[in-house]
Amino acid sequence: MTVTNEWSLQALPDMDQAQFEQWKALLEERTGMTITEQRKSFLQTSVGIRMRELGFSSYQAYYEEVSTGPSAAQEWATLVDRLTVQETRFFRHEPSFDVVKDFLIQRENQEKKSVEIWSVGCSTGEEAYSLAMLADQCLSKIGKGYYFGVTATDISVPALAKARQGIYHHRKLETLDDQLLATYFEQKSQQHYEVVPRLKERVCFARVNVLELDKAPMHGMDIIFCQNLLIYFRRWRRKTILNRLVERLAPGGLMVLGLGEVVDWVHTDLQRTHSDSALAFYRSKASSK
Ligand SMILES: C[S@@+](CC[C@H](N)C(=O)[O-])C[C@H]1O[C@@H](n2cnc3c(N)ncnc32)[C@H](O)[C@@H]1O
Repeated sequence: MTVTNEWSLQALPDMDQAQFEQWKALLEERTGMTITEQRKSFLQTSVGIRMRELGFSSYQAYYEEVSTGPSAAQEWATLVDRLTVQETRFFRHEPSFDVVKDFLIQRENQEKKSVEIWSVGCSTGEEAYSLAMLADQCLSKIGKGYYFGVTATDISVPALAKARQGIYHHRKLETLDDQLLATYFEQKSQQHYEVVPRLKERVCFARVNVLELDKAPMHGMDIIFCQNLLIYFRRWRRKTILNRLVERLAPGGLMVLGLGEVVDWVHTDLQRTHSDSALAFYRSKASSK
């Protein structure tokens, strides 16, 4: 049954410029994401839909609910999910996964028999499971006694819940080759496939806001994979976050970013990999932290 009321059928007024600036500032302060003037209608529509669901007719009243109301934290968690772009795919940018593959294959000669991978801004889990499939394939070729784990983090609680479930519509899996599908997924229904427990148990999902990396317990990561997240941030903020991420990368580790997402950032501990089609860096083995 659909419950409607008279108010929910009325159109909300347009956000005026002051209201837009207020919402934009709140979003940037809490997530780092900037909303351009061109995306004003996206912000207005997303906020408006949530207001309708709750029965708010004033942007200001809802703003107060989200910022200072008794269930502000909970409401913010719901709203932020609507305001973030969560588009993602399995093996989204192939050249980046090729760099990871090369790195993993070279692990054969390393003393350390484990690999820790971090998917930063993992959305609904496709990136994290892609990394896990790749690690499983590469490391099983090396031989027994190798451990790998993927830590996958995002700000959106609902996206993380979907990721943990690991159930995907068959259309999302069309780009996977048959061998990967057969090895790492079980058919759950006519339309859906689920990640096999053996792979799921290698991936741990957690809520981490990249603006609060100082609170994140990750360290000594061998691979940090961060794509299609920083593009929504201001340039200075991208650099600050990247500098924090480098601190979490093990000496000799690999950091993979989205091509073109950072243009004028250099770090003394990092050296760009040879791939021109991916933006990836090795951390020098001599770095101390
Ligand atoms: C476009 S998706 C990218 C998903 C995946 N990395 C990929 O490239 O396919 C961006 C993700 O970043 C997340 N995100 C946005 N702001 C964030 C923040 N401050 N901290 C952590 N994650 C954030 C969003 O919730 C969303 O899931």
